[in-house]
Amino acid sequence: MKRAADRPRPAEAATADRRPPAPERDSGDMVGTRIEVEVGPPGHGGFCVARHEGRAVFVRHALPGERVVAEVTEGSAKDSFWRADAVEVLEASEDRVEPPCEYAGPGRCGGCDWQHAAYEAQLRIKGEVVAEQLRRLAKVDREVVVEEVASPFGWRTRVQFAVDPDGKLGFRKHRSHEVVPVEECAIASSGVDEVGALQRNWPRVDMVEVIAATGSTDRALVVTPKRGEQMPFVDADVKASVLRGVSRHTHISGVQRIHGRPYVREVAEGRTWRVSGSGFWQVHPAAPDVLTEAVLDFLNPKEGDVALDLYCGVGLFAAPLAEGVGESGAVMAVELDRQAVRDAAHNLGFVDDQEESSEFPWLDLVEGSVDEVLADENYVPDHADIVVLDPPRAGAGRDVCDRIAALRPRAVVYVACDPASLARDVAYFAEAGYELTDLRAFDLFPMTRHVECVALLRPAQR
Ligand SMILES: C[S@@+](CC[C@H](N)C(=O)[O-])C[C@H]1O[C@@H](n2cnc3c(N)ncnc32)[C@H](O)[C@@H]1O
Repeated sequence: MKRAADRPRPAEAATADRRPPAPERDSGDMVGTRIEVEVGPPGHGGFCVARHEGRAVFVRHALPGERVVAEVTEGSAKDSFWRADAVEVLEASEDRVEPPCEYAGPGRCGGCDWQHAAYEAQLRIKGEVVAEQLRRLAKVDREVVVEEVASPFGWRTRVQFAVDPDGKLGFRKHRSHEVVPVEECAIASSGVDEVGALQRNWPRVDMVEVIAATGSTDRALVVTPKRGEQMPFVDADVKASVLRGVSRHTHISGVQRIHGRPYVREVAEGRTWRVSGSGFWQVHPAAPDVLTEAVLDFLNPKEGDVALDLYCGVGLFAAPLAEGVGESGAVMAVELDRQAVRDAAHNLGFVDDQEESSEFPWLDLVEGSVDEVLADENYVPDHADIVVLDPPRAGAGRDVCDRIAALRPRAVVYVACDPASLARDVAYFAEAGYELTDLRAFDLFPMTRHVECVALLRPAQR
């Protein structure tokens, strides 16, 4: 295990995937205005695009082809676009259904975006959104089919609850800090429900994350106290409140173990993975296996290959890559978050922080930022045969794409949770001589606007 740069990591980097979006702007002077609009195609962000007097209006809770009364939620007379909620449906789409969850709807819980759409329509909408991002940002024209993975409810194994002023758990309204308290969440897994966090009150707490591991009975609570609350804030009431065996962490800077083990054990690919505190792990229980299979299928590792696993988290793709390239090959896995690197080291057979993995001596695990590691000749190999990259929501960026392309791999597999970032990076790869040759998309976040893509890039045939 190696450390590329021994410095504190940027506070944002590891948590960027999970933070609630900050409101882009305060409400403008058209807020509350009602307009009648014809609803157009879906956009990236859980809305459909309509036009009103030459201006784009991003309408949530609507479906393509509908005629609705939309109430403006953000925008002023001088803005080029407004945001709005469909508050009355004048002509409904055939795809419209009654939202199964009582908290879904205009001005309510902001967690789900498409509960009002039949499930097949959700898949279609997400496919259109990915295709549109690729067309617009990468100039790639292709149909995208989003694959159904499992039941659209009860899938979320890691849930971050916000806390309202009375200490009740809930979710923030869309683009707002206001919390809608809930008594249940339709997309949370049964393991999350069993922890019982929703049944108690959380005074002096800002956020509660409930983690229900897959393949083990491990459960964890990561509790973030309100600013200024002292440690330890855990009182007898909290200690007695939840199931026995649940780990509780109080999160101020880093994770402090209060009770139980500081990590959960997730089972995927027939291995057990240690994931500490709020560290990154796929939230859909099927995701680790589905994504690994798709990645390996596209990459097709061969004995002796040099492979890179960039943004490796706790090592999900690094282990099967190391198996695939065998001892005559080499793998370099890179991750920024120090705790994730520690977990990856444990998961990949580095005993007691030793330099070499006992399971895969041909695997290097590097702690550092991918852009810096790829720029550092002490780490980067002179070529790579296969590369997997799974960056956070913001994507990899031009510099990283260029540096990967400069290693002339025969295949690059890009795992993306944001289709706009994927499309931007596909465009950078295209400039560097790589073309998108295949793409699969999976509905690993049913009912929400999110979709996971696995894209294959190869040297362009000129
Ligand atoms: C989407 S997760 C993917 C993790 C892993 N591939 C998996 O599927 O479990 C992205 C990971 O990138 C890490 N990360 C964020 N910025 C990074 C950077 N600049 N360099 C290296 N890793 C970074 C995060 O800590 C996180 O573990």
